[in-house]
Amino acid sequence: MELLKQRIRRDGRALNEHVLMVDSFLNHQVDVGLMRAVGEEFARQFAGCGITRVMTIESSGIAPATMTALAMGLPLVVMKKSISSILSEGILQTEVHSFTKNSSYQLTLKQKFVAEGDRVLVIDDFLANGEAAFGAARLVEQAGAQVAGIGIVIEKAFQPGHQRLIEAGYRVVSLARVSRMAENLIEFVDE
Ligand code: G4P
Repeated sequence: MELLKQRIRRDGRALNEHVLMVDSFLNHQVDVGLMRAVGEEFARQFAGCGITRVMTIESSGIAPATMTALAMGLPLVVMKKSISSILSEGILQTEVHSFTKNSSYQLTLKQKFVAEGDRVLVIDDFLANGEAAFGAARLVEQAGAQVAGIGIVIEKAFQPGHQRLIEAGYRVVSLARVSRMAENLIEFVDE
């Protein structure tokens, strides 16, 4: 998605070869106009796939997933990363380990917000190793629904997440695929 790549080039900052800061438009301050365009692009790419529900993981996935659900006219469900004492009944959980943050959490979904037979589109802001996407897929499948697609705003294509998800049989659409980073350098796949 050219508009997104332009924005990453202009306002993104590679801290080093692994971490891309996009906090001025994606995960701290949010450019809602850009997120609307992101949502419309996902809606276009996944049109005709019989999607019935959009899902994401709190917190940075919420903005692009909201705009996707709006563009597709579908319900949105946000998976939680912590267990609340008032969220104990009818819940599904799976452990997700983040290599980037070197920490784990219990990804949590209330069963009643997924219907058996649902075709779910999972949206997230970043794809690195794919652990969060695999965790989301496990919960969708535990609920008796199917992952019809995974939409990623920014993929770090030099990490194995995309390949692992494809090998597991998922359809992955990433709107910007970063192939290489270094201090003050950001390159995209196919450039
Ligand atoms: P994985 O799920 O693909 O395996 O990715 P990983 O564990 O490595 O990363 C998980 C968290 O780190 C996610 O945030 C993700 O957004 C964030 N992250 C990964 N790489 C980058 C990067 O280059 N730049 C930035 N800004 N973030 C990155 P999270 O823990 O889910 O937090 P949030 O959604 O609450 O913001």
